Amino acid sequence: METKKHKHSDDEKDNPHQSGNEVIHNGKADERSQIRDTDLDLQDVEGIGPTTAKKLKEAGITSVMELAVTTIEQLAVDINCSKDSAALFIMAAQKLLRESNVLEKEFVTADFVLEKRKSMLRCSTGSKSLDELLLGGIETQAVTEFYGEFGSGKSQICHTLCAMATRPITEKGLHGNVIYIDTEGTFRPERLQQIAVTRGFDALEILKSTTLCKVYNSSHLGLIVKDLGRYISERNTKLVIIDSIISLHRAEFTGRGTLADRQQRLNSILHKLVRIAEIYNVAVVITNQVLSSPDTFFGDPTKAAGGNVIGHTSTYRIYLRKSGENRIAKMVDSPYHPYSDTRFTINQKGIDDLEEGTRREKELEGGSD
Ligand code: GTP
Ligand code: MG
Repeated sequence: METKKHKHSDDEKDNPHQSGNEVIHNGKADERSQIRDTDLDLQDVEGIGPTTAKKLKEAGITSVMELAVTTIEQLAVDINCSKDSAALFIMAAQKLLRESNVLEKEFVTADFVLEKRKSMLRCSTGSKSLDELLLGGIETQAVTEFYGEFGSGKSQICHTLCAMATRPITEKGLHGNVIYIDTEGTFRPERLQQIAVTRGFDALEILKSTTLCKVYNSSHLGLIVKDLGRYISERNTKLVIIDSIISLHRAEFTGRGTLADRQQRLNSILHKLVRIAEIYNVAVVITNQVLSSPDTFFGDPTKAAGGNVIGHTSTYRIYLRKSGENRIAKMVDSPYHPYSDTRFTINQKGIDDLEEGTRREKELEGGSD
């Protein structure tokens, strides 16, 4: 099968904000993105003819990339086919993306994985100490979860990330746009504006780079996540925020009898997010609430809501706690970060470091509490 090579126009290179969803690393387009998804047609996928392509488009799946990240169950319902056929279509789409070097191969050598990690970008949170905890900032190709009680700073981190993600890569940003999925109605453009102005950034540019999506119920969230790939490509997105992943599910699925349904729905959303983060090279940040578990005798009697489903799918989990005026962030789960903690504060800059004096005092007091 012949795949068409994408020709970059000079305009696109100069202005990555307008150029599809390319991976820009150190000012250079990433090799994997030289053939972009937009160059492939659904009918290039093995087994997909005009009729299936039409059905897919009617179901809102307009690109090979979107087909590759969809779930078997969803696709079977969307185009009214068996789960086996749905699985074959998805695998064929992924195979085509691999052959076109958009996706990596199933079996790859470690040096290739290392190369892929190099296309991974890190976005500063706005606080040096929180960045240190995250070994440089939040990562693309990963889902980072911040969980903690009310007022622990989850939404403030999200607001600050909106300002930071639009910054150039040389300034620890992602040089891309942000999609902010707000399920609690707590996004405040004025707050984002204040953070941008205090940090000396162009507030209007940042507001324009952030696309807000208000979600009202869990099925609505499922639909938005289903089409997320397309939104990401259309808006040259590098960061997707869901604040919060759990609140709607908690409100809608009450009682033990509904727990399995709730977990299944959450599971499908989270798996899709993991795949989207990897395939589109975007950072995904989700926030989560805590449950108090009265059966805990030692340590902190709170744990993340959403059970194992969220715990097993998030790449990194950070637990946030209030400590007087300040906040403590603790790395709870990560394949390679040390499980340490750090302090930060919330001020006009959004998330910020503690003043030098306060930090020293805390260190003398013996670190974290
Ligand atoms: P829930 O969504 O309720 O679970 O909490 P959250 O973890 O999202 O809390 P959020 O990020 O909204 O943090 C709230 C805290 O941030 C408040 O208690 C304030 O201390 C601080 N905060 C919020 N807005 C501002 C602001 O404009 N300026 C300053 N200095 N602090 C703010
Ligand atoms: Mg919040």
